[in-house]
Amino acid sequence: MNGILEATNIDKFIALTPLMRLGNNRKRRDEMMVYFRHIVLKMLHDEGILSTFEKPISIEDAAKKSGWEYPSDYVDMFVSILANDKVLKRSAGVMGNEYSLSSGFKLAEKDPVVHHFEDFDVTYAEYVKNIPARLKGVSQEFTGTISLFNWDSALASQLYQAVRDSAFAFIDKKWLRNAKLLDAGCGPGYETADMWVKLAGMNAEITAIEPDEGLIKIAEADFTRNVKKAGLDIDPNAKDVKLPTFHQGTVEKLEFDDNTFDAVYFSNILHWTPDPPSAIKEIVRVIKPGGMLFGAQSGTETTNPYMNLVTRTIKNTYGFFSRQDFTKWMIAAGIKFFKTATIVNTFKGFKRG
Ligand SMILES: C[S@@+](CC[C@H](N)C(=O)[O-])C[C@H]1O[C@@H](n2cnc3c(N)ncnc32)[C@H](O)[C@@H]1O
Repeated sequence: MNGILEATNIDKFIALTPLMRLGNNRKRRDEMMVYFRHIVLKMLHDEGILSTFEKPISIEDAAKKSGWEYPSDYVDMFVSILANDKVLKRSAGVMGNEYSLSSGFKLAEKDPVVHHFEDFDVTYAEYVKNIPARLKGVSQEFTGTISLFNWDSALASQLYQAVRDSAFAFIDKKWLRNAKLLDAGCGPGYETADMWVKLAGMNAEITAIEPDEGLIKIAEADFTRNVKKAGLDIDPNAKDVKLPTFHQGTVEKLEFDDNTFDAVYFSNILHWTPDPPSAIKEIVRVIKPGGMLFGAQSGTETTNPYMNLVTRTIKNTYGFFSRQDFTKWMIAAGIKFFKTATIVNTFKGFKRG
C-alpha cells in the first residue's frame, strides 16, 4: 500500500459539482493561458526586454547586456519558457546555445477579453510588472507592490468560494464535529468565515494563520461582517459560540505543538512557499495521528508557465508543481489515503498512525 487511493468517479463528480457553477472549467483554463501569455509578452515587448534577443545571443551575454542577475534559475526558467513557447528560437552558437526572436512571433494587437476571472486578472496584471526587477535579482513581498485591495477582492470571488465548496464536498463534513481545525494561509479571511459558517453548530474550533500582516488584520477585523454576509448572525457573547482565533505565521514554522489539530485545511498556498515538501511536513507535524488534511492546490497541469514566472517574482516562492509531486510529498510526509480530484486539485488525506 503506497498510501494513494484513486478517488472514485462519484467522489470526483461530487468534488467537481461546485466548480461547475463557474461554467466550463476547461474553457476558463484556456482563457487563463491566453491571458497570462499575453500580459507577460506585452510587458516584455513594451519594456524592450524582447529586443535583447533581436540577434542570436547566449543567456550569459543577454544577462550581461541587460543587467540581469546570472547565474539564476529564474533567468534560465524565463528563457526556457520563451523558447518552449517558440517566442525565442534556439540555435547552436560558438559558445553553446543562443536565442533569438522567432521570425513568426507577433504580439496580439488587442488584449484578450477576460470573462471569468473577476479580480484575479487585475491582481496578476500588477505582479507582471515585477518581472524586469526579478530578472535583475530583486523580488517583491506578497502584498508589497500591489494594494491589499487587489488580493482582498480576488479572494472574495466566486472562484475561491467554489474551490472551498469543492474541498468540503470532497470530505465527510461530519468528521469535523468537535474538531480543532487549522486554516493555514487564510488570506483576508473569507475562507475562515466561510468555513465557520459551514461548520456552524458542529462545535468546531478554528485557528487561522496567515503570514501577511495586512491580510491577517483584515481577516480578524472583517470576520463578523463576512459571516453576516453569508447569512449568519453571531452573538460573540453567546456561550456556545467559539470564534476563530487569528495569528500571523507561516506554514514553514507553525507555532503549535505536535499533534495539535484534528484537521488542517489549506487552499492554494504552497506555491507561495519556498519549499512545499518541507511545508507539508510541518503541516503534518501539527495534525493528530489519524487526523485529516484537506483543501485544494492548483498544479502545473492547470497553470500556465507564464503564471509561474509571475508568481516567482515574489520573494521565496517555489512556484507551481505537478499533482504527481504533490502526491509524492504528501505520502513522504506521512499522509495516507491521499486522493485528489478536479482541475484545481481538490485533495484529502489522513495522517498515519
Ligand atoms: C491565493 S491566496 C489564498 C488565500 C486563502 N487560502 C483563500 O483561498 O482564500 C495565497 C495565500 O497564501 C499565503 N501564504 C503565502 N506564503 C505562505 C506561507 N509561507 N505560509 C502560509 N501562507 C502563505 C498568502 O499570504 C496568501 O494569503
